[in-house]
Amino acid sequence: MGYAHEYATAIMHRGRVPMEPADFVPDWADRPRKAKYYPGAESFPLPDTTYPSHATVTAGCLPDGNSGEALPFSLPLLSGMLLDSYGLVGRRLGVQANTDLGALPHYPQANWSRGTASGGGLYPVSVYWVSGPSGPLAPGAHYYSPPHHAMQRLLAGDVSGEVRAALGAHGEATDQYLVLGVKYWQNAFKYNSFSFHAVSMDVGALLQTWHIWARARGLRLAPALWFDEARLSRLLGLGEDEEGLFAVVPLLWDTQRSTSDAPESVGAAVTRQDLERSRTVLDFDTLRRIHRATAEHATDRPAPGALDSSAPAALAGTADPVALPSAALPEVSLRAALRARRSSFGRFDATVPVTAAQLATTLAACAEARLHSDAEPDGTPRLARLYAFVNHVDGVEPGAYAYEPGTHTLQLVVPGAPGSFLQRNYFLSNYNLEQAAAVIVPAMRTTAVLDAVGDRGYRLVNATVGAIAQTFYTAAAALGLGAGVALGFDNISYIEELGLENSGEAPLLIMLLGNERPQPADFRSDIA
Ligand SMILES: Cc1cc2nc3c(=O)[nH]c(=O)nc-3n(C[C@H](O)[C@H](O)[C@H](O)COP(=O)(O)O)c2cc1C
Repeated sequence: MGYAHEYATAIMHRGRVPMEPADFVPDWADRPRKAKYYPGAESFPLPDTTYPSHATVTAGCLPDGNSGEALPFSLPLLSGMLLDSYGLVGRRLGVQANTDLGALPHYPQANWSRGTASGGGLYPVSVYWVSGPSGPLAPGAHYYSPPHHAMQRLLAGDVSGEVRAALGAHGEATDQYLVLGVKYWQNAFKYNSFSFHAVSMDVGALLQTWHIWARARGLRLAPALWFDEARLSRLLGLGEDEEGLFAVVPLLWDTQRSTSDAPESVGAAVTRQDLERSRTVLDFDTLRRIHRATAEHATDRPAPGALDSSAPAALAGTADPVALPSAALPEVSLRAALRARRSSFGRFDATVPVTAAQLATTLAACAEARLHSDAEPDGTPRLARLYAFVNHVDGVEPGAYAYEPGTHTLQLVVPGAPGSFLQRNYFLSNYNLEQAAAVIVPAMRTTAVLDAVGDRGYRLVNATVGAIAQTFYTAAAALGLGAGVALGFDNISYIEELGLENSGEAPLLIMLLGNERPQPADFRSDIA
């Protein structure tokens, strides 16, 4: 049994047995930047792009949305997708219940917002673009710089053959690839050992913004989570323990030129280095171990069907299922929803309940979220089950339910108002969970996934949860509802409350949905 089992157990129990270093205090004055900084790298600004109104959240997120054909990418499409997902698009100035409130009006501490949510708002995912001659720039490896919305050249020359070789037999016939890394220190300076758990969800959240954005436009993305990580790390000049590479996304490209079949360019590597802002960078043993454990067999891509037995078992409840209204979203473009997306941070107000249709739509969208990764060929069962703690939903009695996407129904698990349970088991003080209309909880059989596909499966589990979270936020924004997701809860209490001790399902995130207080104090400051 690999180290990921041990890490997963420690994470689940951390509300009761703190993880080391238990007395850690972040040095905020010495915090890292929220993006990498490559001094001297040549920058290529990405073009402005429009977004069609017919590319809606429905098309991106709901089961009967676009099927996602294989239309090709172009530079404007890539630019739009990056801007809407990880580019800086606004500044948070609204009054909310987080402890950073006092800092928000000060420009050096401004909190710039993005379309994708991120644990702690730290945005540790690095996006690299490796492009061969079929692309619009001279071939090379680039870093996407979110603050500039620009590509920065790290290496000139066609190294796409290296990525193709690292991928093995996966993906489109292309020479264009996005590679997603996580610079751990960008998150670990705050979350230390817990960091890996959060950042692996961040990767899924970003992949999901791309997936729903692309699907709404009739494009298709199929990320690989299994590939020769060490080889791509060398290519990108990354330190073995400083940055993990979590996904490679091949992009079918819109070009008249023939796709490069450049051979592997063994030895070619980025020599530019990210300039760290922190004077002191700490090393956390647990983080290093879980990174290495999940990187060790990175090329052992699971065989088709390997995950089939990791899905939750069929629901066995005896209560009559509660039928839900059909899922339907207002006609909102995906870009508009991503711009409107934000965390509620304490602004829930249950005076106006959520409708059953709004809850039903959010559940249907979240159940549709999956990574479409190399480990999940068509026919792979859904790996996550959604539970819903209902506080204030018109037409649905308070209680804890399991959602059954096949029949679009709720199955009662625990009757009665769950507000007190929810609030008792939340660690932070920035939300009153009782005022959320409902709290949706994705649960996955982490241990079964690790048994089926090895330690790297931890990345798949958490990326799946991150993908669900991002769909949750986007659907809520389209519905005009408040939303917030959180990791700060006692996982074990949720297992006990939902009776999941024998099913192996691990509740991994809480997702709060509801109406907000009217007329909030806010100042909308859009920059894109
Ligand atoms: C994986 C993940 C975990 C998160 N955990 C928490 C949490 O424990 N508590 C919380 O208040 N917000 C949490 N958030 C929300 C982030 O803090 C939020 O997305 C980030 O600060 C950016 O703010 P925005 O969502 O308003 O753009 C989480 C988000 C993600 C994606």
